[in-house]
Formats: sequence, structure tokens, C-alpha cells
Amino acid sequence: MAVPDLDGLLADGVRGQRVLVRADLNVPLSNGTIRDDSRVRASVPTLRRLADAGARVIVTSHLGRPKGQRKPELTLRRVAPRLAERIGRGVSFCEECIGEKAAAAVAELGDGQILLLENVRFHAGEEKNETGFAADLAALADLYVNDAFGTAHRAHASTTGIASLVDRAVAGDLLRSELEHLRVVRDPERPLLVLLGGAKVSSKLAVMEALAPHADVLAIGGAMAYTFIAAAGKPTGASRVEQDMLEDANCVVEAVRAAGRRLLIPTDHLVAKSLEAGASTRVVETIPDGWIGVDIGPETARRYAEEAAKARTIFWNGPMGVFEIQDFAAGTARVAEAVASSDATTVVGGGDSLAAIQQLGFSDRITHLSTGGGASLEFVQGLALPGVAALER
Ligand code: 3PG
Repeated sequence: MAVPDLDGLLADGVRGQRVLVRADLNVPLSNGTIRDDSRVRASVPTLRRLADAGARVIVTSHLGRPKGQRKPELTLRRVAPRLAERIGRGVSFCEECIGEKAAAAVAELGDGQILLLENVRFHAGEEKNETGFAADLAALADLYVNDAFGTAHRAHASTTGIASLVDRAVAGDLLRSELEHLRVVRDPERPLLVLLGGAKVSSKLAVMEALAPHADVLAIGGAMAYTFIAAAGKPTGASRVEQDMLEDANCVVEAVRAAGRRLLIPTDHLVAKSLEAGASTRVVETIPDGWIGVDIGPETARRYAEEAAKARTIFWNGPMGVFEIQDFAAGTARVAEAVASSDATTVVGGGDSLAAIQQLGFSDRITHLSTGGGASLEFVQGLALPGVAALER
């Protein structure tokens, strides 16, 4: 079903209307400073279009996981100036997201002005999708725009509950663009290469099971590869292995084989004595006792790069090793370079793989950098995203 979008809303005119935009401004913070503002930047086009059209723009978002408590370190107040800077116009802030204070702040908005409300997750009703909380949010607005792709896999009050309580609910430009690009992975030009990395098989199991029969090649990296290696009965030294996932890993191997697809597991490894910069390292085919796998080895990186060069569509989520430590970053860098150099349609999702692409300066050479980690994984495995489904109703 087609999702109504911002174009339709703007075509009917929004001047003077109160438009509540659910953005995903859940940015990574280090000691109170924004480490990466990609999500702020990605939210700008929708907000700017609405403000330019004379709407009274009310922005809501979550930040972190305060679990219904007011946590000062997770205030969105510190995001407001960055949003203002990126939009190039003023953004006021209200320390509440519902109730009298929020209503008063909204009442002060003029046409084309933007207000950011406090973290919706300071209220327990948000994550519980309580109708009362959704109604309190809805009371602030005439129209609703969901642009929070990164949170579209959550059925929360500000992402789903509110949609049926306002006159009109549509998708913002970011949400629409994310869906368009990720649909390419669902319905790809082949061969489709899926590169999955990261620490845990458990967090990627569902996507692996779903993509096993769909991807032409599924290439595994990161610490989760060691669980696959252990499941095959090979030594993993002191590497991180999820012992309770060995059977699941073998099920993925079997599902790929049954579907006649290919599963690539690292055949060589960079191993280290400890997870610290400067630790002694070796490249090995068999991981010795006492050594920790920290990256795919050069031969594996070469094979994965070769697959990237042959693919017509690539979906990448999760780094190939502990790339935050420069000494262990070569495999991720080689794969990032191969994805960036490929002629395929390339979609990269997940905070760490995005960070790798950005650090290496390859952002401009990727077809689509997704702002959603969990949301993009759920979408490509064919699951309905509650935040999108709420707009289709
Ligand atoms: C994310 O960072 O993936 C989204 O903002 C959703 O956050 P959550 O996992 O805390 O729901």
C-alpha cells in the first residue's frame, strides 16, 4: 500500500498549521557532546520544507533509553542548537513534550517557526504506546509527519499511536527515501551480496535466516564469524564466541546450502593477544590458543572485495572487525573501499558501518547510507515496520 507523503501534504498547503514531526534525533553522545550528527542532518530536508511552507513545526524525538525517567544527560536541549545550525534557522526548545508547558510553547510559534520538544522517552507512555500519551502529543498538532526511519521498527506512541489521532499522518522525506532505497535490497538486481558483521550472531540471526535464501552471497565478518567457526568445530582461541548460538549458526549454514546460495566465512584472521592498540598481532588461518580474532584476514578481505566487484546490489551492516582500534581496522577498511568502488547499488546501515564509511571518506560513493540500524535490518528481512504501517491505515 502506498504511504502518503509530504508532497501531498504540502500540495494542500500547511501555512499556519501545527505540524508535529517525529524525527529520530537519537545521536551518539560522548560526555555530553554529539559524536556524529548524521541523523540531525538527515532530518533537515523535511523540517526545512515544512517551515518554508509556513507550517508551525513541532519536532519530537527520543534520545537514548531513559526508560520513562527524566534523565538530564539525555535531554534533547543540547541537540536544539545543532539542529538550528544545520537547518540555518532558529529552533526553540521546550523542556516538556506534552501538557501545559508544551501547549504554551506551541501557541507561541509563528508560521515557519520550529520548536523542539523534550525527549519523549522521559514518559513511560511513549514506549508502552499508551493511548493517553499519544493523545497528549496529538493535542499539540493538526497534522503529523513521521520522518523517524531509525525508530520505525518501534510501535511507540510518537511513532504509531499518534497517527490515528490527528487529521492527517504522512511520511517525511527521509522516511520515504529510506524505504525506496531499502526496497532495492528486498527486490534486488542480482547478484545481491549481503555483508554482515558486528559482535553478535544473536542480534543478526533473524536477518540471516531471512536473507539466507534471498541473498546470492552472504558474507560474514566481525566477532560473529567466530561463532560460525566454532559451530564448524574449528578452533577459535580466545575469540568471542556465543556458545548458545552454535546450533543457530549451523541452521543458517544449512539454510544457505538448501537454498543453493553461498555463505562466506572468514578463512584467515587477524588475531591479537589483547583487545588493545599496540597488542601483538598475527595473520593466521587457524586461530591459536590464547589469541583473539579481531579482524578478517587479508585473504578474506580480498575475497569479499572480489564479491563486491561482481555484485549488482550490496547491503552492508556491521564492521568486519574491531575497527575502532586502528591496528584492527584493515579488513573493515578494505571492505568499505570495495563497496564504495563497486558499480552496484550500495546500501549501508548500522551505526558502526556508517562510521567506518564516514571515517574513510567514502560517504559520497555509497548509493544510500541508512540512518536506521535495527529498522533497516527489519525492513530488509521483510518485516512490516509499525511506524510505516501506521501511516498506511
Ligand atoms: C536507533 O538508534 O536504532 C533508534 O534510534 C532506535 O533506538 P532504540 O533501539 O533505543 O529504540
